[in-house]
Amino acid sequence: METILIVDDEKNYLVVLSAFLSGEGYETLTADSAQQALEIVETTELDLVLTDMKMPTMDGIELLMRIKEKAPDLPVVMMTAYGTVENAVEAMQLGAFNFIMKPFHNETMKQIVDKAVRTYSVLKENRRLVQALEDRYCFDNIVGKSKPIQAVFDTVQKVAHTKATVLITGESGTGKELIAKAIHFNSPRRNKPFVAVSCAALTGTLLESELFGHEKGAFTGATTMKKGRFELADGGTLLLDEIGEVPASVQVKLLRVLDEMSFERVGGTRTIAVDVRLIAATNKDLKAETEQHRFREDLYFRLNVVHIKLPPLRERSEDIPLLAAYSATKFARESNKGEITFSPEAMRFLCNHRWPGNVRQFEHAIERAVLFSKGNEITMDDLPKDLVSFADLEIPIDWQKLSNLPGTLDAIEKKLIQKALSLSNNVQSRAANLLGIPRNNLHYRLKKHNLL
Ligand SMILES: Nc1ncnc2c1ncn2[C@@H]1O[C@H](COP(=O)(O)OP(=O)(O)OP(=O)(O)O)[C@@H](O)[C@H]1O
Ligand SMILES: [Mg+2]
Repeated sequence: METILIVDDEKNYLVVLSAFLSGEGYETLTADSAQQALEIVETTELDLVLTDMKMPTMDGIELLMRIKEKAPDLPVVMMTAYGTVENAVEAMQLGAFNFIMKPFHNETMKQIVDKAVRTYSVLKENRRLVQALEDRYCFDNIVGKSKPIQAVFDTVQKVAHTKATVLITGESGTGKELIAKAIHFNSPRRNKPFVAVSCAALTGTLLESELFGHEKGAFTGATTMKKGRFELADGGTLLLDEIGEVPASVQVKLLRVLDEMSFERVGGTRTIAVDVRLIAATNKDLKAETEQHRFREDLYFRLNVVHIKLPPLRERSEDIPLLAAYSATKFARESNKGEITFSPEAMRFLCNHRWPGNVRQFEHAIERAVLFSKGNEITMDDLPKDLVSFADLEIPIDWQKLSNLPGTLDAIEKKLIQKALSLSNNVQSRAANLLGIPRNNLHYRLKKHNLL
């Protein structure tokens, strides 16, 4: 439902206009001064401001200018009882959408308001389209040829055109948000909003108000009405990110909303119905959370209609050369560098690293390497030193073949040293660092194991 703010110092006008426009299916807010109007403009998603021209302290023209600074596209329609042509012309030059003379016929008012609201909605839709085109959330920005990621693409393609709720799980940085956008922008809803909300950032009432909105005065600090993310996503897709962090009290409400697709704003009584496609994402194991009674099982089943599991990068390391080339090209273009290549050692290192932060961490490493590389080849020296850590020294050990403790320890030590050397590109000081021992100590051990 579109929201109109009516500004007039004459309270009678506010009452009458508000009643008329509500009857025409609009949601109305009122302000009896320009100052109050500005406060509302700052905190509320509006679709139109309808303001009187002559008001004490700040007049309509100044209000118009201030609104244009804050929200340049929000349409403003001026009402004036002292209608001189100059006033109206000035307002139009300053960006008013239209003006209307008081007293006016309801029919004229309705026509002007309808037109302003419709024009603004088309404008917003075009914005979204352009944005979507720029972001190109087709599939070209999602890199991967490996089996596990191709399976993900298949599922995305299959479910995109449906309204099925999708649960996306995967470690941090595996591309959950990217996949959620791919679903949205490949769905019939692509021209409507994609709205993401991080459920971890807020708790209790604040999260509720973020999701469902609140009415003015619903709680301390709720000075104006605010629409929630469900309302903002109407017709489009809502991503509930980090769903595993939602507190129990909000889980109950979500369940009801998902079943009925309707809700009340916090502190409100009117039921608002929306049409929203829901995607939930989490890096937690939600099933395990339900077993621990931290997540409602009924909500879990409701969300888990289609499950997309994103593999960690280390389980699809065959994609790494592709991803490296993709990221390097992207960042080289941004910093005006030519084509970037990787030294064989650097590429081997990138493929063998465990990447606990997955694609996000990988991208950052490549971005940094592109910036730091002197020529157009990325070598070990350009990769962040802290990428190599003791935890990377995972070594395969055949436990069956080991018998006594001293022999076992010796064998493990030798393998560790060999791995450290290969990760460090055979630079002994780096290998010693990695192992956390002084360089001469490493030298002694190299000798002991005949590795010199
Ligand atoms: N397959 C992929 N191809 C190209 N880029 C990718 C791919 N997967 C992820 N990325 C990039 O990695 C970064 C992290 O992705 P995203 O934000 O979607 O991860 P996430 O799973 O939501 O992470 P978090 O759990 O930390 O929120 C983004 O810059 C994204 O564009
Ligand atoms: Mg995310």
